[in-house]
Amino acid sequence: MRIAILSNGNGNYSTKRLKEEAEKRGHEVKIIKYRDCYASIEKSNPTVSYKGEDLGKFDAVIPRIASYMTKYGTAIVRQLEMQGVYTVSSSIAITRSRDKLRSLQLLAKAGVGIPKTVFSRNTIDIDDLIEKIGGTPVIIKLASGTHGNGVVLAETKKAAKSTLQALYLHNEDGTNILLQEFVSESAGTDIRAFVVGGRVVASMKRQSLDDDFRSNLHKGGEGTAIKLTDEEKKMAIKAAKAMGLNVAGVDMMRSERGPLILEVNASPGFGIEKVTGRNVAEKIIEYVEQNAKRRVRKDRVGA
Ligand SMILES: Nc1ncnc2c1ncn2[C@@H]1O[C@H](COP(=O)(O)OP(=O)(O)O)[C@@H](O)[C@H]1O
Ligand SMILES: [Mg+2]
Repeated sequence: MRIAILSNGNGNYSTKRLKEEAEKRGHEVKIIKYRDCYASIEKSNPTVSYKGEDLGKFDAVIPRIASYMTKYGTAIVRQLEMQGVYTVSSSIAITRSRDKLRSLQLLAKAGVGIPKTVFSRNTIDIDDLIEKIGGTPVIIKLASGTHGNGVVLAETKKAAKSTLQALYLHNEDGTNILLQEFVSESAGTDIRAFVVGGRVVASMKRQSLDDDFRSNLHKGGEGTAIKLTDEEKKMAIKAAKAMGLNVAGVDMMRSERGPLILEVNASPGFGIEKVTGRNVAEKIIEYVEQNAKRRVRKDRVGA
């Protein structure tokens, strides 16, 4: 097959691993810097080009869109979809995963456990909101944050109120702000389950090394391999499905009420391979092989 990896370049570890595994399995692989792609929207003839080459001839595309490039990246993926090119992650699923509020709404509707979450546009009813999620401390979260940036722990009502007021004031782009129950049982720890085609192919626990409540590897967290319970596996798979993602990094916390899903990442990093020794890249290529020839199923998530 001719496979295109849409990425920021071949210096990226995940991109390198995907290319390596695809070539091992006899595929022709090209790394396409989606930021340098350009497109032509024309009646019945949409095209995407890269350095003068038409991308319509690829059999499959694996998007690895960075969160800070979501708009442009997903526009390129959407244009390829219009051309009938198979993509392992649909543009709409990538877009929805980048909005934590939308994601939590969908996950909750699908029956996936999530931390108690509320949202509002002002602090008039702050007391009621904090009560609804079980009192302080609370987590304040920007719907569009990544890598642990945009997540705040407010210990008191006063701190929560003033933090929210500051965020609302500088919220020109209209990012939604969530107020969330602080899952204290597993503070500083979370679990990443890597799901491919409805199966968990690797899982790890992440632990912050200092006293930070955030366990993101980008914040200095450390990963160790972990075995998930059947319930955790089921939840991770359900979460990926609810988001319409065939490849997903599902983040969850262990709580007294069972697994609570925090977010579902559409371009999960492959650092998990080093931690667990699992070959995640190969699983993705296998999935592409099995599914690229079939007709692309319509997105059924509906939000
Ligand atoms: N409700 C919560 N209770 C306790 N810790 C949390 C909660 N939400 C997030 N965290 C911690 O903060 C980290 C980052 O939050 P997350 O929602 O995954 O945002 P990001 O997209 O920035 O990674 C999580 O990995 C977890 O360690
Ligand atoms: Mg996260």
